[in-house]
Amino acid sequence: MSTEINLRVLLKSRPKGFPTEDDFDVVESTIPQPQQGEILLQSLWLSLDPYMRGRMNDAKSYAPSVNIGDPMVGGSVAKVIESRSPVFKPGDIVEGRFGWQSYALSNGLDVRKVDESLAPLQTAVGVLGMPGLTAYFGFLDVCDPTPGDTVVVSAASGAVGQIVGQIAKIMGCKVIGTAGSEAKVSFIVNELGFDAGINYKNTNVGESLDELCPEGIDVYFDNVGGIVTDSVMDRINTGARIAICGQISQYNLESPDMAPRNLGILTRSQAKMQGFLVFAYESRYDEGITRMASWIKEGKLKYKEDVVVGLRNAPRAFIGMLNGENFGKTLVKVSE
Ligand SMILES: NC(=O)c1ccc[n+]([C@@H]2O[C@H](COP(=O)([O-])OP(=O)(O)OC[C@H]3O[C@@H](n4cnc5c(N)ncnc54)[C@H](OP(=O)(O)O)[C@@H]3O)[C@@H](O)[C@H]2O)c1
Repeated sequence: MSTEINLRVLLKSRPKGFPTEDDFDVVESTIPQPQQGEILLQSLWLSLDPYMRGRMNDAKSYAPSVNIGDPMVGGSVAKVIESRSPVFKPGDIVEGRFGWQSYALSNGLDVRKVDESLAPLQTAVGVLGMPGLTAYFGFLDVCDPTPGDTVVVSAASGAVGQIVGQIAKIMGCKVIGTAGSEAKVSFIVNELGFDAGINYKNTNVGESLDELCPEGIDVYFDNVGGIVTDSVMDRINTGARIAICGQISQYNLESPDMAPRNLGILTRSQAKMQGFLVFAYESRYDEGITRMASWIKEGKLKYKEDVVVGLRNAPRAFIGMLNGENFGKTLVKVSE
């Protein structure tokens, strides 16, 4: 047994608006002992994701809130250190919801063994994990693309958006991404092969869309909501498909924005708008992982990661990600 301590990041208070580092407590505790049927895990990589902001609220959602004083929830890649379960052995690399802590106990339920031959380990919480699967099923299933479709994706350089745009290119679509800086726009166009990008922070999004999508928009994969979405919605084509994956522009508002008022466009264009949760596709995860892993091996699918070292830095990195300071999938390297 290691003599190290268990570093844990707890929820200290519920934020009003944007979280601050004061909403988190970083504490040191002893490493727990596994009971019969349990495994002790050492976290290697922690994923930081926008949904965690919702868990900090005391509000009804599709998943329970984090209680004050409890570790923040989060998906990680971890190594089995000690096993009292017949299913896992020491040294196994697994993925699951082990929280913002360097060691965790698990009963092995909802724990997935990571196939180390597919790609680097951290991709199990990135392109070959929850965000990548969100892109894969949200785009292919909800958006039902056909070659030649004009696709717009928001937060296009982020964990989900960068994968959506590349899958859209693989499917033969024309792809336009929106992102919050010139560097992000340049990345999606010059490195990922998007047809064009729009910096929504310094451009009139509507005018740019008119220029870049003269024939209108067939598919919109929405990660952000707000003004970007208003501009896209005004330009959708008959039979368009709109996937509401997330609405990050709304997550830190103290009072909600007004509801959309341009939904009449859905009637006129007979378009389909659908929200979805990646967890609904759990029975098909293997399909998505296998297909995306082969695209990675063939050089058709790239992924950009934004890595922060050390669990103590997780609160700052999380707040930065909500602010758009991340460039790619936000990860914390917890230990070697
Ligand atoms: N439905 C599901 O099952 C599911 C699963 C995973 C994720 N999601 C959702 O997917 C979205 C993207 O998640 P991700 O993990 O890929 O995050 P991400 O894109 O890697 O990071 C979040 C990005 O959101 C953008 N952003 C922040 N505030 C914004 C604002 N006010 N307006 C426009 N953009 C803003 C920032 O990029 P810019 O610099 O470009 O502004 C930031 O980098 C989130 O809404 C998340 O909740 C949904």
